Amino acid sequence: MTAIVIAGAQWGDEGKGKIVDLLTLRADLVVRYAGGPNAGHTLVVGNEKVVVRLVPSGILRPASTCVMAQGMVVDLRVLCEEIDALEARGVKVAGRLVLSDRAHAILPYHLEVDARREGAATDAARIGTTKKGIGPCYEDKAARRGIRLGDLVHREHARERIEAACEAWSPVLRALGGQTPSAGAILEALQPHVDRLAPLLADTAKVVDDAIRGGKNVLLEGAQGTLLDVDHGTYPFVTSSSATAGGACTGAGVGPTRIDGVIGLVKAYTTRVGGGPFPTELSDAVGEHLRKVGGEFGSVTGRPRRTGWLDLPALRFAARVNGMTSIALTKMDVMTGLERLEVCVAYETKAGRTEEFPLDDLAQSKPIFRAMKPWSASIDHARKLEDLPTEAREYVTMIEEALGIPASLVSVGPERDATIARGDLFAPR
Ligand code: IMP
Repeated sequence: MTAIVIAGAQWGDEGKGKIVDLLTLRADLVVRYAGGPNAGHTLVVGNEKVVVRLVPSGILRPASTCVMAQGMVVDLRVLCEEIDALEARGVKVAGRLVLSDRAHAILPYHLEVDARREGAATDAARIGTTKKGIGPCYEDKAARRGIRLGDLVHREHARERIEAACEAWSPVLRALGGQTPSAGAILEALQPHVDRLAPLLADTAKVVDDAIRGGKNVLLEGAQGTLLDVDHGTYPFVTSSSATAGGACTGAGVGPTRIDGVIGLVKAYTTRVGGGPFPTELSDAVGEHLRKVGGEFGSVTGRPRRTGWLDLPALRFAARVNGMTSIALTKMDVMTGLERLEVCVAYETKAGRTEEFPLDDLAQSKPIFRAMKPWSASIDHARKLEDLPTEAREYVTMIEEALGIPASLVSVGPERDATIARGDLFAPR
């Protein structure tokens, strides 16, 4: 058996789509363990692009089964639209997608509260959420008044629970200028989606365990990134779920002893969408180059992403809290042709210089940079490390040495084969 977790090491958008796509060539089961329609991958089906936010990208590999596990929050309407879009392009979803009956449903009042709160916040306090109802849905889960997908199958039970949730949200909505939500109308609109998705519901923790015990390759796919994790991120500018590898245990129902490796996704530079601290942010022509060449615009919201240099203390922190066994280094090609190249190696804090990431004191800390040699020759053709120009090789080695773990994959272009692969990630340890 081999169960591998793949988790973002930065603020999300590390280029997971391509790496997961490569790994799913060998995965029997692809399991998404956290988040909801706030994530987004662009899948290329034939000559057409489909953006999926909920369905794991393994759906494109006919041999893989995809699981949406109980750590997720699901907007049933969005999920039905995704299934329609995939099936219209000839991707068979029926029989290959399993949905946890314990995942929580995102309901209209979650979307409305999310959007109204963002609208009402001051510039400094605004989180810059994706407005997909993620935060309020996880709030309901923690408050024990959430609606799980399994609840929706029993109509009267669902009505009672939705009525209670509407009552709880009603003063909040009114204070934000909204109306009291109607449980009846919500249920009415939801019913066709519930009828359609009910046959997909299962105890997915059991499905995952059966696969691991059956000697299958299981890929546990996180969403967002370490610094957006509700426990380990730049709180309060975070999402509301456990994006780190530990989230795979609770979110998919897999014990830590069953996990064989953790691949950290590291983009060769850093990006962030939404509000919150970003010490290595660039607001000059280099930042613009990274945004333009890297196509750094949100796949869910279309917002331009903030861009900046790689942050080694942040990566060391991510390697530690995720227990990373290797990294997949993405978008190395975007760094080609930069006029200068720097990397944050330490921080100057109130207490002096440190190589630790000052997570709780970012606003008061100044990044210390080291200049690296940029490279100008295209690296898209490289298929082994030796094919890279010396400067690019030095960049990879510098990251490996800083983190003390190897780069098992280096991506040098968006195409599937534009990849330097080192070793078999699904090989048993
Ligand atoms: P929420 O997850 O919509 O509540 O947004 C909370 C924060 O997480 C905001 O800063 C979002 O921009 C950020 N965020 C959520 N999902 C993603 C993602 O997939 N990539 C990058 N940032 C994200």
